[in-house]
This record gives sequence, structure tokens and C-alpha cells, in this order.
Amino acid sequence: MFVQSMLRGNNIRDVAAIHKKYGDVVRIAPNELSYAKTQAWDDIFGYRPGHREFPRNPVWWTSPPGQPSSFTTANDVDHPRMRKVLSHAFSDKALRDMEPTLQKYTRLLISRLRETISRDGEDKNVVNIVDWYRFTMFDIIGDLLFNEPFDCLSNGQFHWWIQGVSNAFKINAFLGCIRFFPGLESLLYKFMPQSLLDIQRRHYQAVIDKTQKRIAEGTERPDIMSYLIRNNDSQGMTMSEIESSMNVLSIGGSHNTASTLSGITNYLTKNSTCLQRLNAEIRSTYKTDEDITLANLSGLPYLNAVINEGLRMAPPFPAGLPRCVPEGGDTICGEFIPGGVNSWALQRVSSAFALPDDFIPERWLDAKDLDPESAEIFANDEHEAVQQFSVGPRACLGKQFAYAEMRLVLASIVLNFDIEKVNSPRGRVQWENQKTYMVVEEEPFDVRLIPYNAV
Ligand code: HEM
Repeated sequence: MFVQSMLRGNNIRDVAAIHKKYGDVVRIAPNELSYAKTQAWDDIFGYRPGHREFPRNPVWWTSPPGQPSSFTTANDVDHPRMRKVLSHAFSDKALRDMEPTLQKYTRLLISRLRETISRDGEDKNVVNIVDWYRFTMFDIIGDLLFNEPFDCLSNGQFHWWIQGVSNAFKINAFLGCIRFFPGLESLLYKFMPQSLLDIQRRHYQAVIDKTQKRIAEGTERPDIMSYLIRNNDSQGMTMSEIESSMNVLSIGGSHNTASTLSGITNYLTKNSTCLQRLNAEIRSTYKTDEDITLANLSGLPYLNAVINEGLRMAPPFPAGLPRCVPEGGDTICGEFIPGGVNSWALQRVSSAFALPDDFIPERWLDAKDLDPESAEIFANDEHEAVQQFSVGPRACLGKQFAYAEMRLVLASIVLNFDIEKVNSPRGRVQWENQKTYMVVEEEPFDVRLIPYNAV
């Protein structure tokens, strides 16, 4: 049942239904528990004195054959060594250094959208916003890792390297399911058509080539790679670990932000009061694109509330991050668990959130900024239940970077366009009903953009 539900992309909704019926800790497969309890974040993922780290479940986290381990698949001995090198690229100073690149591609997004909607045609103002967010995020990460964008924004289409990424998530989920049946995986690889294996090799070889080219260029330019090279030494990351990590980072550093922004836009088109309040905050703060900086964006309460609500309602990793209990077992939420457990996020549970299925950014505002009735309704919301960036030794290093990108792009879109709902099947996408294979498989989502000129 579990594998069947996973292969259909329905796992999230099926597990949520089991939680609704049986409570906040449920068995979802012979050897799998699912938690919908805030305390489980700290117990399973956090640092707990006297407890061992819960290892990633290898069913879901294994490098493809022939690819060395990256920071995501590294074991608990190698991971801290890699994290130490990588962390320099995600400091506040590094983010400030990289702001011009974020600004450059956000401006390019706006000008390309303006060009696109000025073409002729009946539906000229309608754009598939999912693609445009992806173009932007892949161009930014390509520039910061390899000093060359994927040129998606300029060309208005995906680079061949990116076209394979969505399929890679699906294949990974499929392989995870296969690993529940010992022996099947090696058999599968044995009979896999050579052409498929060649595509996988070509994809990975392109990252090796880009990484080596970028490293040969030196370290002057302040981007992710230069921080990494400058802080690496013989105790740090090997060349093959860097290459493998660049592969993961090109995908993880772009897909998640693009997916969250798409989900946020989807919910905003269905919640016009929220959209109007966001428009008012952005347009009363900024007059031109040049006024927008990463520093002043971080202080906008409603923009940040919208992003947090987007991470709750449209999480890019809705399936959670499967973990195993360390050998010998451990306690989770006060109970001893002997082994073989994974955990799921709990972002729509009524025990953690009032009106859990509604998109209400106000729940993230300070009580003093709410009317007394709303303050009372949301007083017991458990904000710490939403940990889309995870917690503990493997938590996202790019969290501040991701917030910066999402604030900048969302504020710039709102400053430049009125976003309107499109009355067509592609305009009515229900974000929460999309298929999920570890990550959300985003459908095309159309919005109508009407240029807004403040001055
Ligand atoms: C909304 C956007 C994002 C979300 C929700 C997100 C979420 C996550 C999560 C959950 C993990 C931990 C995975 C695990 O423990 O199994 C992670 C790891 C990581 N993320 Fe993100 N991420 C986002 C954006 C980014 C961006 C933009 C970057 C870089 C540009 C980035 C860089 C990293 C790195 C380097 C790690 C590895 C940390 C480690 O293993 O020590 N992330 N991310």
C-alpha cells in the first residue's frame, strides 16, 4: 500500500488521512512510523546531548551508481567535514557579496516578463509562472556555482541539463520504492536500457566539466564556488566530493525556492485580501526596483508572513526527510522506538494550527499587529512545527539565502505587476492536490500579469 501510494504521487494526502484517523504517531509501512508532532523535529533531527544522530534512511538517500558521495549522501563521519567547508559560502557576508547576482537575475526576470506580455495575441498577459520562477532560480545558481547562467531567462526556455531534473526526482522516488524489495535494484540496473544510463552519465559529466572549468578560473569573484575553494584544504572536500555536491546544489539550491514561490503565487491568486495587503506593503515601501535591497526586505512583516505561510501550505519537501533510528533505538516524543522509523512534516494538523487548511499569512504576525479576535484565534499556533529547512546537524545551510531570493523576487513581481487569477484549467491548479515524488511535481500554473507603474 505504502509503495503503491508513493508511486501514484499520493503519499502525502494518504499519510495525512491516516494521521487524521489514528492520531499523531502512525505506522505507515511494516518498518516505518510517521510523526505529526512538533516535538518530533527536535527529537529526530536536532542536537540532543547524550543521543546519537538519526542517520538518513538509505532507501531514499543513495548516490546513483558511479557517482561519489555528496554532502547529502555522506555518512555521519564525512558529513561534518564537508559541511564545514560549505558553510563559509552561506555566511551573512557571503550573501551580501552575492546580492548583485541576485539583483541582476531578478531584474532580468522582470524585463523578460514585461517583454513577454507586450507581445501580440489574445492571452498575451498570461504566463506560466512556474517556469519563470524556475528560469530565474536556475540562472542564479548556475552563475553562483559555475560563473555561467543556464541562460533560461534570456532564451525563455530550459537548458537541456535542467530538463532532466524533474524526471530525476521521480526516478529517485521510484528507486526508493524498489529498495523496499531487496535484490530488485541491482536487477533493475542490469536491465536498464543503455540509452538511459548514458543520459545519466552525460548529465553528471556536464557538472564535472562545469566545476573544473570554474575552479580553473580562480577565486577572485565572490560566488559560492570561490568561498568553497578559498576555505578548502587537504582536510576538507576532495575534488570528486565537490563535483558531486555541485550536482546536488544546482538542483537543491534552485528547485526549492522556485517551487515555494510558485505555491505562494498560487495561494495569493485565490486569496485576494492577502494579495491586496501584500501589494499595499510593497508599493508603499518602494517606488522603483533600485529601492529594493536584501537588507530592507528582511524588515517587511507582511512579505515575510506570506513567505512563511507559503512554506507551511506549499512546502517543496512535503514528504518530509526520512530518517532511521540509531542502532539500539532511542526515544521520540517520550517513547522508546527500537528502530527503522522515519518522520514526516506536520504542517496542516489542527493540533498545531488554527484553520490549518487555509492560507492565512496573518498567523505569522506579532499579536500586537492583529485585531484582538485574530490574535486569539492564532495565539496557540505552533510556528516551530514548520521546519522546511530542517533542524540540527544537517539543517539547510542556504536558509537565509533562500529567504533573500524569495523576498526579492516576490517583492519585485508585486512592485511591477498586478497578479490576476486566470479562469482556465491551468489557472485553477489546486496546489495541494499535485502529485509528490519526494518533492512536489509542479504542474504548469498560469497567472495574468498586468503591468503596474508606481510612478
Ligand atoms: C525554500 C527553499 C529551501 C528549502 C525548503 C530547503 C530545505 C533544505 C532541507 C530540508 C535540507 C536538509 C535535508 C536533510 O536533512 O535531509 C537542506 C539542506 C541544504 N540546503 Fe537547502 N533548502 C532551500 C534552499 C536552499 C538554497 C537556495 C541553497 C543554496 C543556495 C540551499 C543549500 C543547502 C545546503 C548546502 C544543504 C546541506 C546542508 C548539510 O547537509 O549540511 N538550500 N535544505
